[in-house]
Amino acid sequence: MATKPVLPAAAALAAVLACACVSPGSPESAPPGSAHAAAADASKGARIYADCAGCHGATAQGTANGQVPALAGQHYSVIVKQLLDYREGERWDARMESVMAEHRFDDDAQIANVAAYIAGMRMPPAGGGSGIGAEHGATVYAQHCASCHGPRGEGDGEEVIPRLAGQQYMYLRRQLHDAVDGRRPNMPADHVALLAPLDVDDIDGLAEYLAELAI
Ligand code: HEC
Ligand code: HEC
Repeated sequence: MATKPVLPAAAALAAVLACACVSPGSPESAPPGSAHAAAADASKGARIYADCAGCHGATAQGTANGQVPALAGQHYSVIVKQLLDYREGERWDARMESVMAEHRFDDDAQIANVAAYIAGMRMPPAGGGSGIGAEHGATVYAQHCASCHGPRGEGDGEEVIPRLAGQQYMYLRRQLHDAVDGRRPNMPADHVALLAPLDVDDIDGLAEYLAELAI
């Protein structure tokens, strides 16, 4: 541990990213587009979700192999942002980009409806790691991530910060590596800079810890 590089202080990063995350209450704090929560209809969203279930699962728990993330219980604003990012080519994944195209999600209300439905589902802990690195992961998390993602990995819907608790272990590992390796363009540069100094044990530990967290 003593030989590890010192990570940039999360507080400093928070200050920088705060410029990107607008303050609650301002008009920009609503998710982009016209996909606002108030107008969303979760029962219509349930019908749309039937087409998502083939990959994300009937209960939206994702897959243990890390290909498909759990979605259940994710914040509405985060789901909307990620779907818009895939639609606009700001987050890359051939499967999700084709889903967005096939569904003609050019109508933002559809995005709002499906996001409202998913946000109301329950996400139990995914687990999936060996558990060995979880304790180390908890330490790294508390130091560098909890200030934004919350003490229990709960995220923050107002600030469009994803919930990480209960997410699939392999998916979390993949996202962290993808972000550092430049395969996740919608991850803010300052966030990438925070992750870059993490070593393999840090990333593995973080993923193990988060996958086992229940809210
Ligand atoms: C063909 C399989 C497939 C289908 C169908 C599919 N997804 Fe996905 N979805 C994926 C994969 C794979 C990823 C992870 C992609 C990545 O790494 O960026 C993903 C990622 C996501 C994410 C980002 C989650 C996060 O934590 O950042 C959201 C939100 C999402 N999907 C919603 C949906 C919705 C809503 C539908 C239905 C309209 C849907 N997906 C249909 C495979 C699929
Ligand atoms: C300054 C606030 C902040 C800090 C500190 C921070 N994050 Fe994030 N994180 C965010 C935001 C905002 C996003 C959403 C980015 C986007 O829209 O793609 C995010 C996204 C993520 C994602 C992608 C989630 C998904 O399902 O798509 C992962 C994984 C993640 N962060 C892990 C971490 C870890 C691990 C740490 C600590 C080493 C950390 N973050 C520290 C704000 C932060």
